[in-house]
Amino acid sequence: LLVDKGNHRHFMAKEIYEQPETISHTLSHYVDMGAERVALRETLPFDFSDLSRLTVSACGTAYFAGAVAKYWFERYARLPVDIDVASEFRYREPPLEKGGLSLFISQSGETADTLAALRYCASQGQHVASLVNTLESTIARESGVVFPILCGPEIGVASTKALTAQLTALASLAIAAGRARGVLSVDREAELVRALVELPAAVSAALGAEGQIMDIAKRLSKAKDVLYLGRGPMFPIAMEGALKLKEISYIHAEGYAAGELKHGPIALVDEAMPVIVVAPSDELVDKTLSNMQEVAARGGKIILITDAEGAATVGHGVADVIVIPHVHNFVAPILATIPVQLLAYHTAVFMGTDVDQPRNLAKSVTVE
Ligand code: G6P
Repeated sequence: LLVDKGNHRHFMAKEIYEQPETISHTLSHYVDMGAERVALRETLPFDFSDLSRLTVSACGTAYFAGAVAKYWFERYARLPVDIDVASEFRYREPPLEKGGLSLFISQSGETADTLAALRYCASQGQHVASLVNTLESTIARESGVVFPILCGPEIGVASTKALTAQLTALASLAIAAGRARGVLSVDREAELVRALVELPAAVSAALGAEGQIMDIAKRLSKAKDVLYLGRGPMFPIAMEGALKLKEISYIHAEGYAAGELKHGPIALVDEAMPVIVVAPSDELVDKTLSNMQEVAARGGKIILITDAEGAATVGHGVADVIVIPHVHNFVAPILATIPVQLLAYHTAVFMGTDVDQPRNLAKSVTVE
C-alpha cells in the first residue's frame, strides 16, 4: 500500500484537506442524488421500524461520531440511542432486548474493546451492524451488516477524514431509519439529503479559514489548558476538539456541554485559559452564546466558531470569531469538525510535535 503526503507536510494535513472529496465519495455510496433520497445498498437483516432502541459502542474519535449520531437518530428517526465507550460497555454487560440492533463504529475495525463489545452483543442475540473503513477487518467479518465509510487509508494517528466519513454515513442511516419509521416525509428527506449534498462545497469553504486559524493556533500553543464548549450535537464536536488538541499538541483540553459550565469548569476561567465555543446558529445558539458571555464576564479569552448569523449576534469580549458557512442544522456538526481539526493541527505544528505519530498513541489499539 503506497500512500504519500502529496504537497502536504503531514498526513494529517493531507487527510484534513481531502475531506471535500472523501465526504462526496461516502455520499455517493449512500445517497441517490437525483432522487434526493438515501438508497442503502446493504441488505438489512433487521427493520428500522421494528426497533425500540439502538445501542452504539466505539472508542476515541469514533465514539464522538456515535455521540453526534445519537442526536440524529433521536431527532430525525425518533429512535432512542444508548451510546457508550466500548471499554465501559463490554464489562457493564448491559441487558439488551433480543432482536435489537447494536452498531459498532471503528475506522480500523480492529479496536480490541470495540470488538469485545460486538462479541458480547452477538452473544445476546442482537443484530450486529458495523461502520468501518477497513472492510477486511475482524469487526467487519463478525458483523451481520457492514456499512463502509469509504474514506481511503487514514495514516495520521489522530483521526480526521474518517470522522467526517463516519458522520456522513451515520447521517444517511438516520435518514433511512426516519423514513422506515414513518418519521420523515418524502419532502423532509429530500431537504436533509440536499443538505448532505451541499456539504462538500461548504467543507471546502471552511478550509479557507486556515490562515486565520494559524494565527489563533500560534497563541493557543502558549496555553496550558483549554476549555471547549458545545451544546446539542456540537457537544461531541467540542469533546472531539479537546481530544484532538490533547492527542497532537499535548495541551490539556476538556470538552464540556455548554450548559454544564456553571456546574464546574467556570471555576477555572481566567485570562490564561482560552475557551473555544462551537456554536453555529441553530435553535439553541442563544443559550450557548449566553454561556459564552458568562466566560467573557470573567475575563476568559474566547474563540468562537460560528456562522455569519451567529457572528452578527456576538457582543463584546470575544477575542476571535472563526466564521464557517451557514449550512442546514442537520449537517452543521460535520462542518464544525473542520475548524476544530485545523486548530489542533496548527497548534501542534507550532509546538513542533510529531503530528502524524504523537507520543504514546497508536493508530489502532488492538490490545486492551
Ligand atoms: C486510537 C486512534 C484514534 C481512534 C481510536 C479508535 O485511539 O488514535 O484516532 O479514534 O483509536 O479507533 P478505531 O479504529 O476503532 O476507529
